[in-house]
Amino acid sequence: GVTRYYDFTLSRGTASPDGFLKQVMLVNNEFPGPLVEANWGDWIQVTVHNNISGPEDGTSIHWHGLLQKETPWMDGVPSISQCPIAPGSTFTYRFRADVYGTGWYHSHYSAQYLDGLFGAMVIYGPTHTNFDEDLGVIMVQDYFHRPYFSVLKDEMSSNVTLQAQFADNTLINGRMPFNCSLAARGSTCDSSDATYSKFRVRTGKTYKLRLINSGAGSIEYFSIDNHQLTIISNDFVDIIPYNTTIVTLGTGQRTDVLFTPRGNGSIWMRTQTSGKFCGGARSVAPKAQAIILLDDYPEDTIPTTTGNPPPVDNGMCANDPLDLTLPYYPIALPEPSVTYNILINQGFNATGQKLFYMNGNSFQGDYNDPILLLAEQKNYSYPYDPKWNVVNFQTNSSIRINVYNNNTSPHPMHLHGHDFFVLHEGAGLWDGVSINHPENPQRRDTQNLAPFGHVVLQFDADNPGTWPFHCHIGWHLSQGLFMTFMERPNDITQRQIPLVMAETCTKWDAFTKKNV
Ligand code: C2O
Repeated sequence: GVTRYYDFTLSRGTASPDGFLKQVMLVNNEFPGPLVEANWGDWIQVTVHNNISGPEDGTSIHWHGLLQKETPWMDGVPSISQCPIAPGSTFTYRFRADVYGTGWYHSHYSAQYLDGLFGAMVIYGPTHTNFDEDLGVIMVQDYFHRPYFSVLKDEMSSNVTLQAQFADNTLINGRMPFNCSLAARGSTCDSSDATYSKFRVRTGKTYKLRLINSGAGSIEYFSIDNHQLTIISNDFVDIIPYNTTIVTLGTGQRTDVLFTPRGNGSIWMRTQTSGKFCGGARSVAPKAQAIILLDDYPEDTIPTTTGNPPPVDNGMCANDPLDLTLPYYPIALPEPSVTYNILINQGFNATGQKLFYMNGNSFQGDYNDPILLLAEQKNYSYPYDPKWNVVNFQTNSSIRINVYNNNTSPHPMHLHGHDFFVLHEGAGLWDGVSINHPENPQRRDTQNLAPFGHVVLQFDADNPGTWPFHCHIGWHLSQGLFMTFMERPNDITQRQIPLVMAETCTKWDAFTKKNV
């Protein structure tokens, strides 16, 4: 097929997307990074130059939601599928656009993406609904003014069980005016950047909006004042259309909606989080607004519409009911060949660090250890130290995962390399029997897991590789809420992993040795 070429230079810099000058990390000096576009079946080739300098210098880019069926080594996860890209070096990703719809990419090295190493990825494919125009991506995110590393450190050393770090703002496509005079003394403000994102539309026409939650942790509730939205896909899976007024998006999730504007002048678009658990334990959570301009109303028209009532915080932070979210192309649930139970706990280790545990293990990846996928391929004996949290599913054909969350935070759970079936969710434990629409369960790559609740997922072992399964909240990964599923290891050894993967490790080793 055709190849789409991109060139990314990653570097440190400053940016003031909301009027507050922040130390950021940028892709080609843009916040968010550039849009990657392709047609379904194309190859995408992205050359990444790591020009980041500073203490947190390695990097890698993950293509969230792509299956990487032909190239599992291009999944972009340090410790698992590749060595970090060393400072001053270049790595070229090349992979197939093997699914279609709305996606995104982000650094998978520590929580770098919170500082700006992310962008949208749109893969064009068939459409099953009528609309007049694709309005493009709308990225919503909670946003911290401090660099990500200090957010991680403070969260990990906090002695309260509830989330202790609160976002300073929320952005829509990288914008939302912030009252910078409220910021700490010594902050630099640039109010010329403090503007709303704007969208121009025609009344009566129907638009497709591609919503992405690219945030650090908050579950976002997206709406357009006085309008219905028609949901047509979740993550990379088309679903049978249904109407709603609020779209729920956990970090990492995407939803495409149709929207037909009516009215005069302009309308507010909004995203907000519920205060209690879904965005951290505080009563007033930040929200973002953007302006929808109708027809020929002037650029400076400020909307006067009022928002739909905010979502009721019932503590579940749930995605839409599974009864509503039926895939457009049905796939019946196969019999599982194994069921694996996962218990998520929060706790404090001997040195007082606040960590998360999956079945008693907290993943603490060491970027200097061998890479799981490469080690497996060469039949090296890999350190199956419990801290690595690897589950080897051997030759199982369909794997059911029953996850129970024994703590106060919701977790948007993401699996690499697959669209999983979502069988059941709810408060407390699964009854072991109930399955929503076994003839056509919801499928997606990220699903919200409720505080003290369960979610039951299943995926077919059709993609030999090493696939992380983790919470997408930035600091929860660093706190160890991360495990890796090894799928058909004997078939991994058959694959021809390109030499460049080993070369990347050689460069990384040289860099780390230089720095001891
Ligand atoms: Cu978008 Cu492993 O994540």
